[in-house]
Amino acid sequence: MVRIGVLVSGGGTNLQAIIDNIKSGYISSGEIAAVVSSKEGAFALERAKNAGIPGKVIARKSFPSEDEYEEEMIRHFKSYNVELIVLAGFMTILSGKFINAYKNRIINVHPALIPSFCGDGFYGLKVHEAALAKGVKVTGATVHFVTEETDAGPIILQKAVDVEDDDTPEILQKRVMEQAEWKILPEAVKLFTEGRLEVRDNKVWRKK
Ligand code: GAR
Repeated sequence: MVRIGVLVSGGGTNLQAIIDNIKSGYISSGEIAAVVSSKEGAFALERAKNAGIPGKVIARKSFPSEDEYEEEMIRHFKSYNVELIVLAGFMTILSGKFINAYKNRIINVHPALIPSFCGDGFYGLKVHEAALAKGVKVTGATVHFVTEETDAGPIILQKAVDVEDDDTPEILQKRVMEQAEWKILPEAVKLFTEGRLEVRDNKVWRKK
């Protein structure tokens, strides 16, 4: 079993999608060992509790420096023998220390088709506001490995979603979650935990 650590900041619907896909047996080679929230009171922590998963708040602002913050995060996940980190709606930018400790072992879900609407400042609802402002007819979600450049790491999976004329950011966000994120994030976790992902030349190759 691959032990998974999930980082969250909000509602935790992507965390729930992983929990549900482990429960159903779709993900059969991984288990969530620990959930860490960047915020007190995040509903994601309730979801972890309901699933019997240990949850903890580790907030950047509680530490004098980024180094000390990331050292604590690494220490926490190592104490649970975590081998894969999943960023599931996690809104704190991670730096080299944490990323190098889990090189090619951190995956993130982003609510757009990278390289569109991504990078610094594009998170949560802002991504969908930007997509609607541009008038794109298709958007979607991307799951990728995390590198030091925001949203620029090797792409694991993408799924397209139609934009409708009368969409609001909230309606579009919900459609992208339902049709794309909650499907491709568990699929990427399944592929990783089955040892079927290989990173070569900054690209991801899927083994059959
Ligand atoms: C999701 O749409 C996720 O893709 C996005 O935040 C939302 C969190 O929802 N993440 C980012 O924007 C990261 N850059 P959730 O807490 O219900 O999973």
